[in-house]
Amino acid sequence: MITLEDAFKKLLHRLELTAKEQKDVTDRHTRVREIVRGGIGVDRDILSGSYKRETKTKPLKDVDIFFILRSSEEGWLEKHPEDLLNEVRGLLTPTYGESKVTLGRRSVKVDFGVAVFEDLTDERVMSVDVVLAFARDGNYVIPDRRLDDWVTTNPEIHAEQARNANALYDGRWKALVRMIKKWNDHQDKPVKPSFLLEVMALGILNRGFGGHYSLELQTFFATGAQRISEEWTDPAGLGPPLTDRLAAEPWQRQRATDELSTAARNVSRARRLAQQGKNGEALRVWRDEIFGPLFALS
Ligand SMILES: Nc1ncnc2c1ncn2[C@@H]1O[C@H](COP(=O)(O)OP(=O)(O)OP(=O)(O)O)[C@@H](O)[C@H]1O
Ligand SMILES: [Mg+2]
Repeated sequence: MITLEDAFKKLLHRLELTAKEQKDVTDRHTRVREIVRGGIGVDRDILSGSYKRETKTKPLKDVDIFFILRSSEEGWLEKHPEDLLNEVRGLLTPTYGESKVTLGRRSVKVDFGVAVFEDLTDERVMSVDVVLAFARDGNYVIPDRRLDDWVTTNPEIHAEQARNANALYDGRWKALVRMIKKWNDHQDKPVKPSFLLEVMALGILNRGFGGHYSLELQTFFATGAQRISEEWTDPAGLGPPLTDRLAAEPWQRQRATDELSTAARNVSRARRLAQQGKNGEALRVWRDEIFGPLFALS
């Protein structure tokens, strides 16, 4: 049987991006870039979102490709946000297929049909999200179908905030966010969007690393269960509240609260079992109740 320390090391390692995955993302990005650039005026495009910030969990999916469109395309801003997303969807379907290219809230998703087994994808990226943006006043304006409006964002500010939080945590904060998102995945995403978890981690895990991942997780889940009832805003102070979806769907917020409370209880149970020397039982709780198959038992 593996020690708890080694099981965490293994999990952390498995949640890091491998060279092969990054190569696959680069290749997919190159192909998608060619197609999008072939049909709409693009100024530049970059990988962004949690992939760029190193806060993405595994299996690797929904990597954001951020296209900054030319000012000659700004006529789109007079139309419905969905029109621009549909236009770009139409560019991508001949290559990837009707059923593989779908509209998200703020992006066009391209699904590559990659198989998953026990949370592993043979180091391939499952999907990308194509985001279309216009530069404005040092920030960016992007479509939002849910609001039927154009909203402001700034991925560079989010990246800097994540870097600062990570530095305060001796380089361990991003790994904690990847673990917290893995927990959310394993419970079928009670917290949506998962960027909300990262934003909550900015607010909750802000006192420096205490020395144990398990203790940080306990703090996050226990405090998160209390504080998910609050309104959480864009930490860059630009976009719509991250809790707008939870506010509109009270049962979703209740489920998120319940799952966060359960997680806090499970983490303290796992910690207690470990203190009692019941290593095997503690490992089981971490794997079965919290992280799933990426948490190794041996
Ligand atoms: N409400 C918002 N206001 C402003 N910017 C936002 C908002 N929601 C998301 N963003 C920005 O858009 C990016 C992409 O959003 P997305 O929902 O894909 O989250 P993500 O951080 O990439 O997380 P995930 O790991 O779920 O992919 C975020 O990383 C963030 O920079
Ligand atoms: Mg994303």
